[in-house]
Amino acid sequence: MSFSAIILAAGKGTRLKSDLPKPLHKVAGMPLLGWVTGALNSAGADSIFTVISPGSQQIESWLAGSPAIIQEPQNGTGHAALCCLDRLQALGDKPVIILFADTPLVTSATISGLVERVQGGADICVLGFHTDQPDGYGRLVCDRTGKLTAIIEHKDATDEQRSIGEVNSGIMCAKASVLCALLPKLTSANAQGELYLTDIVELGVEAGMIPTYALADPAELVGINDRVQLAAAEAVAQARLRHAAMLSGVTLTDPSSVFLSADTRIERDVIIEPHVVFGPGVHIGAGTTIKAFSHIEETECGTDCVIGPYARLRPGTKLGNGVKIGNFVEVKNTIMDDGAKANHLTYLGDSEIGSNVNIGAGTITCNYDGFNKAKTIIGVGAFIGSNTALVAPVTIGAGAIIGAGSTITQSVAENALAISRAEQSHKQDAAERFRERQGQKKK
Ligand code: UD1
Ligand code: MG
Repeated sequence: MSFSAIILAAGKGTRLKSDLPKPLHKVAGMPLLGWVTGALNSAGADSIFTVISPGSQQIESWLAGSPAIIQEPQNGTGHAALCCLDRLQALGDKPVIILFADTPLVTSATISGLVERVQGGADICVLGFHTDQPDGYGRLVCDRTGKLTAIIEHKDATDEQRSIGEVNSGIMCAKASVLCALLPKLTSANAQGELYLTDIVELGVEAGMIPTYALADPAELVGINDRVQLAAAEAVAQARLRHAAMLSGVTLTDPSSVFLSADTRIERDVIIEPHVVFGPGVHIGAGTTIKAFSHIEETECGTDCVIGPYARLRPGTKLGNGVKIGNFVEVKNTIMDDGAKANHLTYLGDSEIGSNVNIGAGTITCNYDGFNKAKTIIGVGAFIGSNTALVAPVTIGAGAIIGAGSTITQSVAENALAISRAEQSHKQDAAERFRERQGQKKK
């Protein structure tokens, strides 16, 4: 299905009260704009134009070369679409879908359905939804036969029109040629003194066209104007991601307490206990269990691992198969090969840890001297005793053993045993003498 898309992203987003442009606010770890372009790409859009305001460098760099059209001044949604006129003129009768950057949860199936209506002959097809709280939305006004005759903005509507429960989602699809004919006719004779994209419905009727509409699930069409709506969209996105994870063979003991990112990939037979948070860039291999209260981001995890409870896996963590990461263990920019274990109270940063290495409780890689980061390398099968400080750069050879409580500043050879700790001294009966002395002093 060949179609083009225009994303309107030039609005000021005033109600978010933010220094970050609205299209870059995130839902499930992904910018709003990423959700819209993702859905368009999976529906097969072959070109996407994004309308932005001047000086939106952050959005332009996010777009990374995909066409951005500058709208100046921001004179309404119709004006924003009009700024794309040059591009539209080259597209003939091709369907063009217009979407808003602040309506991120529309699915590729809904997009395809709307585009198909135009491919099937409709000149304009508007996507609407039914709501009991239509305030703020444009109302879909139909004649007695049910044909769409106009979209009337809330501020321009009569009381009778305001009682209509079918509203405009803001998304519509039309033939490029229809947009080219109607957009230049828009006027700003309305309550907000702007060019309303929605007026092309009435202009279409006047030109003898039959605009149509389709209704979709309101959950897909949550519009984000403030942070309350941002949180509402997050809830919808999370519900969708959890549902998809479970249907693909992942057990979520308490789905509502697991937070996923839009790009989280979890293979089958993974078990996720309550209160686990996945930041962006996580892939979990089959058969792994993530225990409660773990926080994971930019991590590649192999199969059959056990992570947590209370584990923190930070960016650059790469775990092989059968790795165990226990409670209060933090791992950053570290590779752990198959069967390696760090079960308790440990920090592993900038490290390469061979297979079957055992990291004892309280081990710390001292990877930062206040200026630079340095590496710790631990060979296959080495055993690091509890409460060891590994002062990087340092290499522990394969099969080496480090005695508990050591501070290791020099590399250790393969199969060597290294201990660095103060000698233990013994004073016969000194404990008893101590108690006597203290007892006499006690008042
Ligand atoms: C719009 C619709 C309304 C619909 C509602 C759904 C119009 C006139 N009204 O109203 O019928 O029910 O969305 O949420 O279309 N934008 C620009 N340039 C501008 C103005 C806006 O790019 O000059 C962009 C914004 O960034 C945003 C989108 O267009 O992504 C919608 O703008 P907004 O001001 O939120 O429109 P609404 O008043 O919500
Ligand atoms: Mg809006």
